[in-house]
Amino acid sequence: MDLIIKNGTVVTASGIFAADIGVEQGKIKTIAEKIEGAAAKVVDAKGLYVLPGAVDVHTHLQMPFGGTVSADGYQSGTRAAVCGGVTTVFDYAIQRKGKGILETVKERQALAEGGACSDYAFHCAITNLGENAELLDEFPAAADYGVSSFKCFMVYRKEGMMIDDGQLMRILEKAKDVGILTNVHAENPDVIDARIAAFLKEGKTSAWYHYQSRPEFVEAEAVKRAIHWAVSANAPLYIVHLACKEGLEAVAEARSQGYPIFAETCPQYLEFTSDVYKREDGRNFVCSPPMKGPESQAALWKGIQLGVIDTVATDHCPFKQAEKDWGKDNFTKIPNGCAGIENLYPYMLSAANSGKISFSRAVELCAETPAALFGCTAKGSITVGKDADLVLYDPKKNFEISVKNMHSDYDNTIWEGKKLKGYPVQTYLRGTLVYDNGSYVGVPGSGRYIKRGASGRK
Ligand code: URP
Ligand code: ZN
Ligand code: ZN
Repeated sequence: MDLIIKNGTVVTASGIFAADIGVEQGKIKTIAEKIEGAAAKVVDAKGLYVLPGAVDVHTHLQMPFGGTVSADGYQSGTRAAVCGGVTTVFDYAIQRKGKGILETVKERQALAEGGACSDYAFHCAITNLGENAELLDEFPAAADYGVSSFKCFMVYRKEGMMIDDGQLMRILEKAKDVGILTNVHAENPDVIDARIAAFLKEGKTSAWYHYQSRPEFVEAEAVKRAIHWAVSANAPLYIVHLACKEGLEAVAEARSQGYPIFAETCPQYLEFTSDVYKREDGRNFVCSPPMKGPESQAALWKGIQLGVIDTVATDHCPFKQAEKDWGKDNFTKIPNGCAGIENLYPYMLSAANSGKISFSRAVELCAETPAALFGCTAKGSITVGKDADLVLYDPKKNFEISVKNMHSDYDNTIWEGKKLKGYPVQTYLRGTLVYDNGSYVGVPGSGRYIKRGASGRK
């Protein structure tokens, strides 16, 4: 055996039990009450939880956006990921005018290769089907290449990324036929643009008006519209970064009728409310959709507890302080996005450690369901035969998040000062130690591209 992790408390989505874990050639070989015999390395996990590595299915690394490029590249972003217990990162490859799907994905793959510290996969965001209908013909090849989910932005018209309803419907219909799961960013662009124009005319330019230009009803309408098209196309749909109560209710309603509608939320919507936009540093919290009011926040937690929310992912898209400052006097100039890749698992596990959800539920939301939904068959759970992506978690270790103890390339974080109860102490990527008590100890470039299968549903 290459590695035995002894005396730990193993957490899966279905239970918690004391067990030793044996690892050979990067895979989980044995799970047993006691594993005797020799191993190249034996780790004593007494007093620690042993969890599957998290799967963050929503990141934007090195993404050209908002007049700049997001602050974490594939190396720093995935380094931060493993330091927070995320062992697989799904990045959004954004297809642009004149480019094909595979061409786009392969370009991003080339950026990741040689530097990635976690394993990685890609979704592709289709942005210009209107001018480029032959993109639909590429769907089967993309699925064969392991890209079995596409994103549609229902917003970002001026950024050249928006998909209209006609295009969304065509994507849903074609995607369903080839086992591709369609993801949507749901907000109403016309209402946003009209409200922004009115606010700017009135001189209302602070970060608060970012929220006011896209409040609850702006997101809710688009969520309902997307569900309507998915149900009409008889296609599955995954709603990314869901942040509002009314949208959540629409998901619950569709699900209760048996439709395969899935929902993701992010830690920032669970932790913060729209009040952050009243702060002096409100611009640092600008992301889309924005944080919503306390009713939405409470509903999202309920959705997590009741199983309406399927996954929690980060939408990691940090920008440097100087770039956020472009919008000090005009919220429309703030690059949209916040950091989170290193905070996802610690945050959700701290919620578990504080009794808000169970540890098994945290594992289900952050590892098991995202892996299953997105066809990552070797990832997401502590099961014999799966990759030995393992996190040792100390429930007694207290931790305060600061930009100084993160492992990214950004220089500010919305999570500054957040106190967590419990923290990961080690991360193993396919059986190799990559994070040890505050330090990245892996070899950049050891992360591998994950060729995914079709969506596994649940
Ligand atoms: O503000 C955000 N979320 N930036 C990243 C792009 C997106 O919409 O997911
Ligand atoms: Zn989005
Ligand atoms: Zn995003």
